[in-house]
Amino acid sequence: MRSTDIRSTFLGFFQERDHRVVPSSPLIPSDPTLLLANAGMNQFKPYFLGETTPDHPRAVSVQKCARTSDIENVGRTTRHTTFFEMLGNFSFGDYFKAEAISWAWELLTRHYDLDPRRLWVTVYLDDDEAVRLWRRVGVPSERIQRLGMEDNYWSMGIPGPCGPSSELHYDRGPSFGREGGPAVDGERYQELWNLVFMQNLRGEGSGKDGYPILGELPARNIDTGLGLDRLAAVLQGVDTVCETDLLAPTFRLVQEMAGRIYPGRDGSEDSTSFRVVAEHSRSVAFLIADGVMPARDGRGYVLRRLMRRAIRHARRLGIDGPALPALASSVVGTLGETWPELSRRSELIEQVVTAEEEAFERTLRHGSQILDAAIGRATTAISGRTAFELHDTYGFPIDLTVDAARSAGLTVDEDAFADLLEEQRRQAHHAGRGRKGSAVARQDLYRRVAAAHGLTDFVGYSCETAETRIGALLGPDGQVPAATEGDELEVTLTRSPFYAESGGQVGDTGTIRTSGATLDVVDTRPGLDGLHVHTVRIVDGEVRPGDEAEAIVDADRRAATARSHSATHVLHAMLRRTLGDHAAQQGSRVEPGRLRFDFAHFSPVDTGLVQTLVNDYLLDDPEVRVWEATRTEAERAGATALFGERYGADVRIVDIGDASRELCGGTHVGHGSQAGPVHIVGESSIGTGLRRIEALTGADALRHHDRAASLLEELAVLNVRPDQAPDRLRQRLETLAETQRQLASLRLARLDAEADRLGSLAEPTPGGRLVARVVDDVTGADLRALASKVLSRGADVVVLGTAADGKAMLVSAVGPRPAGAGVQARDLLTGAAREVGGGAGGKGPVASAGGRRPENLERAVAVAARTVRDLPA
Ligand code: SER
Repeated sequence: MRSTDIRSTFLGFFQERDHRVVPSSPLIPSDPTLLLANAGMNQFKPYFLGETTPDHPRAVSVQKCARTSDIENVGRTTRHTTFFEMLGNFSFGDYFKAEAISWAWELLTRHYDLDPRRLWVTVYLDDDEAVRLWRRVGVPSERIQRLGMEDNYWSMGIPGPCGPSSELHYDRGPSFGREGGPAVDGERYQELWNLVFMQNLRGEGSGKDGYPILGELPARNIDTGLGLDRLAAVLQGVDTVCETDLLAPTFRLVQEMAGRIYPGRDGSEDSTSFRVVAEHSRSVAFLIADGVMPARDGRGYVLRRLMRRAIRHARRLGIDGPALPALASSVVGTLGETWPELSRRSELIEQVVTAEEEAFERTLRHGSQILDAAIGRATTAISGRTAFELHDTYGFPIDLTVDAARSAGLTVDEDAFADLLEEQRRQAHHAGRGRKGSAVARQDLYRRVAAAHGLTDFVGYSCETAETRIGALLGPDGQVPAATEGDELEVTLTRSPFYAESGGQVGDTGTIRTSGATLDVVDTRPGLDGLHVHTVRIVDGEVRPGDEAEAIVDADRRAATARSHSATHVLHAMLRRTLGDHAAQQGSRVEPGRLRFDFAHFSPVDTGLVQTLVNDYLLDDPEVRVWEATRTEAERAGATALFGERYGADVRIVDIGDASRELCGGTHVGHGSQAGPVHIVGESSIGTGLRRIEALTGADALRHHDRAASLLEELAVLNVRPDQAPDRLRQRLETLAETQRQLASLRLARLDAEADRLGSLAEPTPGGRLVARVVDDVTGADLRALASKVLSRGADVVVLGTAADGKAMLVSAVGPRPAGAGVQARDLLTGAAREVGGGAGGKGPVASAGGRRPENLERAVAVAARTVRDLPA
């Protein structure tokens, strides 16, 4: 069975059982506590938590998932992958265990025709009900095993919904491992399908310490996940996902490029490398298509590690040229029809992997140099610290360090390396944990507030003021019963006209008035999806939950923000028009009068052209139309969807004229001309394949022009019209340069004349021919030059002093002829410097000194002269 048929059979089976098909969410989740989408249920989390009610209580999906916590194992086993498609059916407080179990069994044995005798089942320890239900569909007791929390209790890995699970496993036969069921050997009895009876809420902690179960969810739900890759391998009779039709073309390409045949699953390093290269190429293509860009941390780092690991294993196999571009493009070729985002972003994918592979090559070269130096220094071992530095600073992988050391007959202190790595992990973990811990606690608080008062009724699309009521007052440690003048805290309202920061647009500010208090709203954010949290300062009076209030948005600021938001959409459209579809939004910040827009592109952009296009478009005064549709309708209508949007019943679409259509929840102007003018003030690279444009909008753009114009006015000092100013200025600069050249040669001539004069005054002494004088009208810098010139006029020792800017300057110079007892320029000035209240410095034939008492210069020069005269003959 082809993988396309596997998908459609699954969707069809559940559609017939009244499930609604929901598209996969992007790999970048909208859930801020989750790094990458890791299960079909992610996008439904608010339903499980009871925060939102779905339109329909049953759903079915094919979800793109990435799991990379155990990346080092991927490729070693035949069953782990960093990317996979999860087939899932879901019940939101509707059907439960009985249906989930019997449908899973029916689908596997009757539609996918798996041999029931090869299917094994695991259940959570005391889940007798599940055992009974499995027995009822015909699974014999000896193929049902009970396992603990670690295997049969599922959560997202972070606080949230969770529950006991039951898994279906397929016996792949003795060549894969030992007898005895999934409890004994997970490689032989491979998990295919996980049925989660989602009914609890988990708190913080990891699987091993056992995280606390905080209680029951509002309803009992079903969340299942069937691995498409694994099922395809079974149905297509192959050993690994790489040999299924999902990856086979890429896998063949790896072998072609390496000029070798995959040895089969023989446990060798080579066998692992073949699988890693193909599997990671697929993950890389999907991540980039969903908007992940390589970075030093977060999901960007996950992507970078995947690319680097793939490149390393490709090199191991002897693939020396660029590997990823061809491999990623073969992934697009295989899966681009099912997942059109791959085809849409194919150009970007190629650019990113090409750039990253080149950068990694440089890293490896640079690291190799440092490693070679370390090898040169070492006698028996490379220290753990050097290995760690290579890894940490240069991104140079430890196994390469070990390999290179081994070839040079050295070892690497791997224990010390591991200690340093562990130390770094611990620190990062602590740092992350504190932040995450408090963020999680705050989310819990918002959840309780939402449960007690409901979500916010947001009325801000149509009004800027609203009659409302204070919901909860939230201090740093939780809800408070009242707040008074001077307090700063968070407030929720039953209805609110304040836009909560999202989609890059800043939150609204303004005022909340009750009969007894005035509150300054300094920011508004979403505490939860749909719960607006207003950060306020109480200006006067006292406020309590339940107080009636009037909420008033700062309308000028809102209008200035709307201008920037509409301008951002038009900028996005014009960038794509000029650069191509790949120039998609990667991030944005929309503020009053200002915007920042990050997009995918590889070279500098002609901002003059883009700015003209944007302004022309806005000046045509296109109508701004906001409408709602289902996500599918919106996509069909060609709306540009941004990453990380959550599945919801309806989406909001903003059209500006014909060229711009985006899914967007922000606030906008009514007509294009209200947004302009737009003035681009900056364009720069902010990472591989990522660029940023910054621009001013509306009144701020005008003010910018005004400032520029008034600067131009000041050019009136040039006595010409502003348009002639550049030419006039160039002329003036040339004249100035010429004058400076003349001055310099005059100064030189004067110094020469002065040097002649001083040279003629040389007096013979035991230390050689001496010139020691105080001179006038010479700058400090010229004094040194003058001293050297006097030497060339026949003197052997020169001491000069001058007063400049109220300070004393002294210089001494000693000629090349061995003079007297070999007097040092600097020693000559020691006593002299003291006379002018300073110190001497300099090494070699010229020394200088400075001090604050120019009135003593004559005496100082005399002291130096005496030193020379008193030298032994
Ligand atoms: N959420 C469960 C899993 O990921 C079932 O879909 O395994």
